[in-house]
Amino acid sequence: MLPDSFIQQLKFACDIEQIVSPYTRLTRKGKNMVGLCPFHSEKTGSFFIYPDSQSYYCFGCGAGGDVITFVMAAENLDYIEAVKFLAERCGMTLPESDTDYREAKLKTRILEINKETARYYHNCLISDEGKGALSYLYSRGLTPKTIRRFGLGFSPNRWDGVINHLTEKGYFLNELEQAGIAVKSSKLNKNGKHTYYDRFRGRVIFPIIDIRGNVIAFGGRALDNNGAKYLNSADTPVFKKSRNLFALNLAKQTKRDSIIFCEGYMDVISLHQAGFDCAVASLGTALTEEQARLAVKYTNKVVLAYDSDNAGQAATARAIKIFSDVGIKVHVLDIPDAKDPDEYIKKFGSERFEMLLSGSANALEFQIERLRSRYDLQTDDGKVAFLKDFAALMAGIHGSIEREVYISRIADQTGVSKESINLQVERLRKSRDRNQKRKEQLDTAIRIGETPANKQDPQRSRNLRCALAEERLIAALYKNPDYIRVVQGKITPQDFTVDVSRTLYEVITSRIAENKGIDMIHLSGQLSPEQMSRLSGILASIPENPSVEEVRDYVSVILESKQEKTQKELAQMNADELKDYISSLAAKKK
Ligand code: CTP
Ligand code: MN
Repeated sequence: MLPDSFIQQLKFACDIEQIVSPYTRLTRKGKNMVGLCPFHSEKTGSFFIYPDSQSYYCFGCGAGGDVITFVMAAENLDYIEAVKFLAERCGMTLPESDTDYREAKLKTRILEINKETARYYHNCLISDEGKGALSYLYSRGLTPKTIRRFGLGFSPNRWDGVINHLTEKGYFLNELEQAGIAVKSSKLNKNGKHTYYDRFRGRVIFPIIDIRGNVIAFGGRALDNNGAKYLNSADTPVFKKSRNLFALNLAKQTKRDSIIFCEGYMDVISLHQAGFDCAVASLGTALTEEQARLAVKYTNKVVLAYDSDNAGQAATARAIKIFSDVGIKVHVLDIPDAKDPDEYIKKFGSERFEMLLSGSANALEFQIERLRSRYDLQTDDGKVAFLKDFAALMAGIHGSIEREVYISRIADQTGVSKESINLQVERLRKSRDRNQKRKEQLDTAIRIGETPANKQDPQRSRNLRCALAEERLIAALYKNPDYIRVVQGKITPQDFTVDVSRTLYEVITSRIAENKGIDMIHLSGQLSPEQMSRLSGILASIPENPSVEEVRDYVSVILESKQEKTQKELAQMNADELKDYISSLAAKKK
């Protein structure tokens, strides 16, 4: 935990407006600023900066918080990293607490271990022991140069290969365990100690390297059909699977105008070898939003080149959604007559792949194709059903020329007149516009308390009156900590009905009691990003500073609903329970 004094300094040194402005253009609106949200794609700005509370809140997607949570989300960093990032910006140096120091030390050790491990696996690959693995890689078309470029390796089929190597170099077993290279077995040896064994055995090794060039994890492919085909490092202090992309360290230097996303390590490596040095893969998981954001820093065009099977197509649909949320243009590569890019290049060569790439269909074409494949266009019923879905898709397209192009094409293909498809699309667009208006009206309503971040909370909607009183009380205390005197002795966190609000109230009041700062920037060390965005949503929807009378009202609403609750519970008690309850009250009085 960082000392309060440091956070205080940081608060004065960095201004939220300045920190946010490189990410989106802000315009003034009263004493606040507004712009397009950097966290989701939108056409009209619903992203607000509140200089007063040094916070931000997006009424479109519910993202919110302070400078620190902003940097965490925008730069894909954890709390400490974000503080460091800000401190560097403002020319401050971070104090090193004991635990920070220990943690930093451990991270450095793990990175050293990983580097040494990669070197060891690579040497094994080119030693006698790795003959089989090496010829496997050659059989998959990789050249020695590619193998070196990716630092590929082989983990010998022994239980203590890498363990022996690294302990001889002076690393400890528990460090190897934390690096995810050794596994602690539940069995004890004859001296009563835990034994450890190599995690990767008999596998081709793909080191995973981050954008700074650190080896952060490993993927291992089996050479036979025993066990999982791929085994990947679990998360460690230096590795978060959902935040990294395989080969981004190389792809970020590409001169090409796009980044190609594939499913597997082998696809990426084949593509690089064939001259497509902009290929990356997510690491054995479905693409995450964090990975999408990471890629967006290096390109403004993404090409999806997933496997052509059903799983790959489903992954494509998911990735389109994620990238469009992040606000980036996506193209989809249709890979005919091959199961994945690796196989395609092997079968047809890199020139053909280049042609595929230059003609890569856009996301809209992919969606149309997907629709088409769902219906039998030979039958009238199939045609009608397809056109209905197609019209709905077109109604969502803004550009009239784009609509025109696709509608003409589909009219030709189905033999249905362009005019009648157009009519259907226009009808849908009209009702969409009406919905849009309704949505805007709703948005205004939302600004009065119903923000995206809290809309989904069932606890909140169960007793909205009380939930609102809780939120307003939190906002009042935040804006004027002196109000603590009004609430002290009257209500406790237990009286709150919404969990998030209870936590916020608890943290804020105990910090006030300890005379500590309660600005957003102080709280972000103690609250999760979700709790931070709820807090900024609450602050954003309650712009005025409530009066003492109002605060008293909130308190009585909270107490009333507590009483109602107890009465309801009493009514549901049977005679025995009631007797116990009464005697417990009597006991309390004494
Ligand atoms: N994967 C995984 N665990 C598995 C299978 C797959 O983590 N049991 C991940 C790996 O990152 C792999 C990717 O999903 O690279 C794609 O899987 P698949 O298409 O099966 O692998 P390929 O790259 O085609 O593997 P290969 O060509 O080596 O058979
Ligand atoms: Mn594959």
